[in-house]
Amino acid sequence: MIYLDYNATTPIDSTVRNAMLDCMENHFANPASTTHTLGIKSSFLLDECRETIASLIDASSDNILFTSGASESNNMVLKGVAEYFYSQGPVHFIVSEVEHKCIINQCHYLERRGINVSYAPVNDKGIVTLDAIKKLVNPATKLISVMAANNETGSLMPIKEIADFCLKESILFHSDAAQYIGKLPFSIQDIPVDFLSFSAHKFYGPKGIGGIYFKDKSLLSDSPLIHGGGQEYGLRGGTINLPAVVGMAQAAKITKERVISDLARQNTMKNRFIEQLRADIPDIQFNGCLQQSLPNTINLSLQGIRSRFLMNKLKNKLALSSGSACNSAQQANSHVLTAMGMDDDRIQSSIRLSFGRETTIEQLDTARKYFLDIYQMVNR
Ligand SMILES: Cc1ncc(COP(=O)(O)O)c(C=O)c1O
Repeated sequence: MIYLDYNATTPIDSTVRNAMLDCMENHFANPASTTHTLGIKSSFLLDECRETIASLIDASSDNILFTSGASESNNMVLKGVAEYFYSQGPVHFIVSEVEHKCIINQCHYLERRGINVSYAPVNDKGIVTLDAIKKLVNPATKLISVMAANNETGSLMPIKEIADFCLKESILFHSDAAQYIGKLPFSIQDIPVDFLSFSAHKFYGPKGIGGIYFKDKSLLSDSPLIHGGGQEYGLRGGTINLPAVVGMAQAAKITKERVISDLARQNTMKNRFIEQLRADIPDIQFNGCLQQSLPNTINLSLQGIRSRFLMNKLKNKLALSSGSACNSAQQANSHVLTAMGMDDDRIQSSIRLSFGRETTIEQLDTARKYFLDIYQMVNR
């Protein structure tokens, strides 16, 4: 079985697993139990991990908050900011039309509670431009949220431009970087975000752990999602999952060491795959922006071949997806590809391949051969 669904989740790195096992065996004490040495040791370990994770994005550890993953991080930021401004007058948010469902569905919820939300359109490459956003800004705009990279197409959004604009206009800027962190280097010194969401299982860490970079935590303090003890600055009650944090820190350490070399290797593999597939199947369509996209993601449509049919044929050979993992059980057209103006046939033929550190050129060659076999069988 060839795994080409890294954007849904990555396999755990073996050093991450070992670090977590060591933590479970040797640092089981609660980091909040600082009345004894074991608890103090756990709390030191927690601090150390926070620093390692912060350093992945050149942040200070005082600006990192742990959550269960990007869905929770995104909920915490949008709901927190909405609550903060709600009593002060009208509140307007702008998000792109192609955000992950954890943003889109949350915005629908916030709209029912009196927040105005505008959904910025994307172009046919799946990219939202600063101009499209500027047209939607009004005096009540408090927050703009645009993902760093799209999970379905891999398209990269102009988040630096948007962040600079927001800074100038005193509008808060949040970016969901769940797909970006781990695949491309990111520094908050270069891109002045107010909030950034990330998730460990997208960069070879464990599931169920992620975080938020925040510039000013007071903006989130009116509405913790989980009321409880004073953990995580009083913003997220509950005993911290230290083994998962340790795993995420180890994953961050490895990512920092190898993100540049992984990126170069994956870009080469991606370009080779695209070139060869174009030669094999001249009417193949690539969805999204091939130039401005994640190095590991390819979204394509084989004309006249439904993705459900193709994935079913290959389900014991290739792990593929036709969009976001959260939607894979649903039959609805992808909201991302729909927003890009693609017609139903092309959407229903779309396949997402996302590869990673363990993918080899031989595996991509085999995947290409499987596609070609099915294409030739259908077009015989
Ligand atoms: C862009 C994006 N945001 C958020 C999420 C949700 O992340 P998590 O599984 O950590 O909640 C995903 C997961 O696929 C994603 O791709």
